[in-house]
Amino acid sequence: MTEITGGAESYEEVKKTAADILTRVKCRPVVGIVCGSGLGELADMVQDAETISYEDIPGFPVSTVAGHAGKLVFGKLGGKPVVLMKGRVHFYEGISIHKTALPIRVMKLLGVKILFVTNAAGGLNQSYEIGDLMILKDHINLPGFAGMTPLRGQNDERFGPRFPATSKAYAKRLRDHAKSTAKTLGFEGFNIHEGVYCMLSGPSYETVAECRFLNMVGSDAVGMSTCPEVIVAVHCGMEVFGLSLITNKAVMEYDTEQVANHKEVLEAGLKRSKDVQKLVAAMLETLEI
Ligand code: HPA
Repeated sequence: MTEITGGAESYEEVKKTAADILTRVKCRPVVGIVCGSGLGELADMVQDAETISYEDIPGFPVSTVAGHAGKLVFGKLGGKPVVLMKGRVHFYEGISIHKTALPIRVMKLLGVKILFVTNAAGGLNQSYEIGDLMILKDHINLPGFAGMTPLRGQNDERFGPRFPATSKAYAKRLRDHAKSTAKTLGFEGFNIHEGVYCMLSGPSYETVAECRFLNMVGSDAVGMSTCPEVIVAVHCGMEVFGLSLITNKAVMEYDTEQVANHKEVLEAGLKRSKDVQKLVAAMLETLEI
C-alpha cells in the first residue's frame, strides 16, 4: 500500500542521486527528454552517448513493461546537451505516483531547464488518425481528481511552491517552435494537431462510455503517463514541451470489431519514430535556451 500512496524522496536524497550521476558522466544536460512507448529510438540519435541503467541508480524506478527499456542516455542532440530517459515507469506498475516523477527532480538537480515529454496515446478526437502527432496544449490529470498527484505530502520549497500554477504548463513558445519547425521539415502523410491529453491510471484500456466521457469533457487523446512528470517539472520551474503519438483510435462505438491493444501501440510508435526523432532534433537545433 505504501507503494500506492508513497511519499516523495527528500531533497537531500534526490541531491545525492544527482551528485552521484554527475560523477559518472561528463555531459551537463540542460534539456531532459522522456521517451514514450515505442519512441525509445530517439536515444540512438544522441551523440557522444554516455549511458547509465536505471538499475544502477539507487532508488531509481525501474520499468517492467515490454517496450520500455530503462536507461538514462546523456549526450548531444541537435547540438544541445541532453539527458534522455529511454523508458519510463507508470503508476499502473504499482509504483507510487511520487516515484513515477522522481526522475524529473533528479533531472532538475542535474541542471535541466527544459523538459520534452513524449508518449503514446489513443485518439479521442474524431479527426485524429493513427500515426498523427499531437502537441500538448494542456492536460487533464484525472488520477489527480482522486488525490493521486506527485505533489501530495509535505512541500519542500527548494523544489518549488506549495501551490504551483499549472495553467501555463505547456510553454507557448515551445508549442509555437514545434509548429514552425514541423512546417520547415515539410512532413507529409500525417497531421500534427494541438490538443488536450488526459491521463488515466490504466492498465486496462478505456471502456466505450469512458472514451465518450473523456471526449465530452474536452480531451483529445488519452494515455497512462505524463501528467505526474509534467506537474513535477512545472513545480520545479522547468519549461515543458509535450508530444503524443496517436497510436490507436479510442473505441467510441459499441459493437465494432475495433479493440485497443499494446502491440498496435508499439507498432505505430516504431512507424512514426523517425519523424518524431527528426522533429525533436530539429527543435533542439534552433531552440534558445
Ligand atoms: N488508452 C490509454 N493509453 C494508451 C492508449 C489508449 O487508447 N493508446 C496508447 N496508450
